[in-house]
Amino acid sequence: MSEPRKILVTSALPYANGSIHLGHMLEYIQTDMWVRFQKHRGNQCTYVCADDAHGSAIMLRAEKEGITPEQLIANVQAEHSADFAEFLVDFDNFHSTHAEENRELSSQIYLKLRDAGHIATRSITQYFDPEKKMFLADRFIKGTCPKCGTEDQYGDNCEKCGATYAPTDLKDPKSAISGATPVLKDSQHFFFKLPDFQQMLQEWTRSGTLQDAVANKIAEWLDVGLQQWDISRDAPYFGFEIPDEPGKYFYVWLDAPIGYMASFKNLCARRPELDFDAYWAKDSSAELYHFIGKDIVNFHALFWPAMLEGAGYRKPTGINVHGYLTVNGQKMSKSRGTFIKARTYLDHLSPEYLRYYYAAKLGRGVDDLDLNLEDFVQKVNSDLVGKVVNIASRCAGFIHKGNAGVLVAGNAAPELTEAFLAAAPSICDAYEARDFARAMREIMGLADRANAWIADKAPWSLNKQEGKQDEVQAICALGVNLFRQLVIFLKPVLPLLAADAEAFLNVAPLTWNDHATLLSNHQLNEFKPLMTRIDPVKVQAMTDASKEDLAASQTDTGDAVPQGNGELVKDPLSAEIEFDTFAAVDLRVALILKAEAVEGADKLLRLTLDIGDEQRNVFSGIKSAYPDPAKLEGRLTMMIANLKPRKMRFGISEGMVMAAGPGGEEIYLLSPDSGAKPGQRIK
Ligand code: 2FM
Ligand code: ZN
Repeated sequence: MSEPRKILVTSALPYANGSIHLGHMLEYIQTDMWVRFQKHRGNQCTYVCADDAHGSAIMLRAEKEGITPEQLIANVQAEHSADFAEFLVDFDNFHSTHAEENRELSSQIYLKLRDAGHIATRSITQYFDPEKKMFLADRFIKGTCPKCGTEDQYGDNCEKCGATYAPTDLKDPKSAISGATPVLKDSQHFFFKLPDFQQMLQEWTRSGTLQDAVANKIAEWLDVGLQQWDISRDAPYFGFEIPDEPGKYFYVWLDAPIGYMASFKNLCARRPELDFDAYWAKDSSAELYHFIGKDIVNFHALFWPAMLEGAGYRKPTGINVHGYLTVNGQKMSKSRGTFIKARTYLDHLSPEYLRYYYAAKLGRGVDDLDLNLEDFVQKVNSDLVGKVVNIASRCAGFIHKGNAGVLVAGNAAPELTEAFLAAAPSICDAYEARDFARAMREIMGLADRANAWIADKAPWSLNKQEGKQDEVQAICALGVNLFRQLVIFLKPVLPLLAADAEAFLNVAPLTWNDHATLLSNHQLNEFKPLMTRIDPVKVQAMTDASKEDLAASQTDTGDAVPQGNGELVKDPLSAEIEFDTFAAVDLRVALILKAEAVEGADKLLRLTLDIGDEQRNVFSGIKSAYPDPAKLEGRLTMMIANLKPRKMRFGISEGMVMAAGPGGEEIYLLSPDSGAKPGQRIK
């Protein structure tokens, strides 16, 4: 027997500012199935992950929510952990990049790179928000596309015409955070000298570490030549300060992959059998695999191995890249209800349905995977319920009724058990190669054979005949044994089904090697239904709920006026509220500085409001009553200033203005008496 392999596995670290959706789940389920397979085989396999907690997006979101970044990331970590646990994603550790281990490792790696001459510094010029006093990443700058003139485009590309450009090319640039006009400002930045590693990367990326398609893509980048990588950001930034450089922070992507090491290090502290150096030292014999999506290949297959090499650590054994998820053949869409959050799925359906469907469609390539919801129902019902579970439910009753639940000894069809045994190495190879689709095909092929054999023997007919009871018991005993084999092969994909089957079979947790044995003279436990068919109504309910998630996030986007279609009004006036609830509303006098139509929106006006100490950007559905919005400029109105900001297609709405009326032309914006000043609170 060979030594168990030592394997460390990671999935990409999810950002700590958003919910997990079914696109994310593809990767976590893929990785989890592979890890479970390795553990099932008896290898020492460890699966670590963490929330990716740094960066300006997280800082700004916390600020908007009026909480600290630490609170935000703690909340999100609790949500993420619950979603993963319910999808049966069994991390050995789920840590955070905002952790002491990560601070230490990031500093240490940076200092090693610096001392080895791999860090350069130079001044760069960037847009700076003079109000927020911060440099603006491209996505925080909006303006008019220099090519086609479309307004309200992000700093590096135009959604309308597809042009890419530098933020400094945008016409009329504005900070998407404060609305202020950004100014150009210089600042010293730190760069990782990636070109120092060109030769090493050329060899490493061709040494079997990457799928061919990925290696080919990387080869194109390597041919063009590598650029130095900007690894610093200026304060204010939520991250780790760079050693010896006050006010300078590591860019989130510098410390994110180091978060893999940090999560493992954190785990080592409570798992004596795990030794950090044995996994990460340059001469480590352990295997290291990162599972990622194809959008972040450059970080994992170029920057990360170069950082590890430069800092004296081992490099990954493999980077396993998967494609994107589409739903019903298209990009996930909020309006079609196919942008499905993990939580929304779990509210309606069992996690194992999705685990199986993903397994059945996941090959080892980087192709996109389509979750076709009709096919999903059909495939899960036909394979898992119709083929696998059916074997046990067909046989269990006869054994309980005819033989007190005891499996008789013997083998009623040695040619079948031989075939199952012979199939094991190939199924094992498919799992090892991450070709889950092939593994599932081969397993279902065996299930078909088992079902055909049982159908041919028809124990239900024999049972009605005199003197055939022994034969019925022999057939059903083998049926249950074949079911047990299938469960062993499927266990990495369906751990809950496996646990329920183990309870029915009255056996200790099954491992891969158990497939070579049969149960005989063995007492079973009561049979309980192991899996029910997917009811398509539940799938519909899930997509409906996903559309509702969207509606909920749109109703209070500054659109204060009921549109007469019932969308907005859940009869808010029918319930009394406590005084405290009312007192929590921050009502202010607001001066309309600017009012303009929003291109592409029928009902919305974009209002720039002065509320004394700050300006707010609010989208309001009052266009039908104010066809000439400029006339609103200079006028006072009232706004709810502490409404949670809402991200809309056109930008972020930071509050709501107040209006009365049924809609259409009859919308009346409220105004205070003359003399009121912008920013005054309404009491
Ligand atoms: O793309 C993302 O969602 C990143 N948060 C992934 C980070 S993976 C690793 F490098 F940390
Ligand atoms: Zn354009």
